[in-house]
Amino acid sequence: MTAQLSTSLTDLIDLSGKRALVTGGGKGIGAAVASRLAEAGATVTVADFDPAAADFASSINAAFVSCDITAAKELSNAVDLAAGEAGLDILVNNAGIYPTTGPVADVTDEFVHRMLDVNVRAQFSATRDAADRMPNGGTIVNMASIAGLGGGANISAYSASKGAVIALTRAHANELGPKGIRVNAIAPGIIDTPGVQDQMAPLKAGGLDIEKRISANPLGIGGRPDHIARGVLFFASDLSAFVSGHVLVIDGGSTA
Ligand SMILES: NC(=O)c1ccc[n+]([C@@H]2O[C@H](COP(=O)([O-])OP(=O)(O)OC[C@H]3O[C@@H](n4cnc5c(N)ncnc54)[C@H](O)[C@@H]3O)[C@@H](O)[C@H]2O)c1
Repeated sequence: MTAQLSTSLTDLIDLSGKRALVTGGGKGIGAAVASRLAEAGATVTVADFDPAAADFASSINAAFVSCDITAAKELSNAVDLAAGEAGLDILVNNAGIYPTTGPVADVTDEFVHRMLDVNVRAQFSATRDAADRMPNGGTIVNMASIAGLGGGANISAYSASKGAVIALTRAHANELGPKGIRVNAIAPGIIDTPGVQDQMAPLKAGGLDIEKRISANPLGIGGRPDHIARGVLFFASDLSAFVSGHVLVIDGGSTA
């Protein structure tokens, strides 16, 4: 398959005419991703199980579909809506959960099951359904984590789920490449999102300086959702036309 090489920078990041689906696009990283894709000209659908996401979606001229990605029918409905008649071009598998796992002795089977069901199984299903609706090829971006690269104490189930996302990214890149579908992943470091703020609330109550924690990297910059959205824009656009199966670490250098 010979890709047409664009000549101007504007062409490279122009997503006009492209149809995109962002799971968990109602807030945090997903919301920043949806905003940037819309700004680049894509027709964006935000899929989220939080009804408040509808207002956000309309504020960026995106469509909204109420969807729990673990519910098969809701997920396939979201893919259908986003694809429309023309087919889907961009899937951002962003929705995920990251509650603190705790010491391994305290982790229940139910907890591990839920973690893997949302972060791995549902993401797998979204890729399967979306790839089926990409007749013209496309690009899939999976949200992994630096926890999937290194592991960490007390977050074992989360680390396992994100390690699986990285393995799936590589496997699907091999499998879907011949159909013109590129599959890549982003491994964010700690990013200031509503989810992280919720997770850290007990530590904040105990005196932790959250901004200091979020900025604990060699650059000393607090990780923000738009730092991740810029990476997604790279993978979603022709800037990365020859890139597939890649895991892009965006963490201010914290794992360097
Ligand atoms: N924030 C970080 O520090 C960080 C670091 C590494 C990886 N990540 C990953 O980035 C992704 C987004 O994280 P965030 O911090 O923006 O989260 P967040 O909790 O702030 O936002 C997540 C969004 O996803 C939605 N969502 C959650 N489960 C869903 C489901 N089953 N179906 C549909 N929508 C669902 C929520 O309603 C919410 O709008 C996750 O996959 C997370 O694991 C985040």
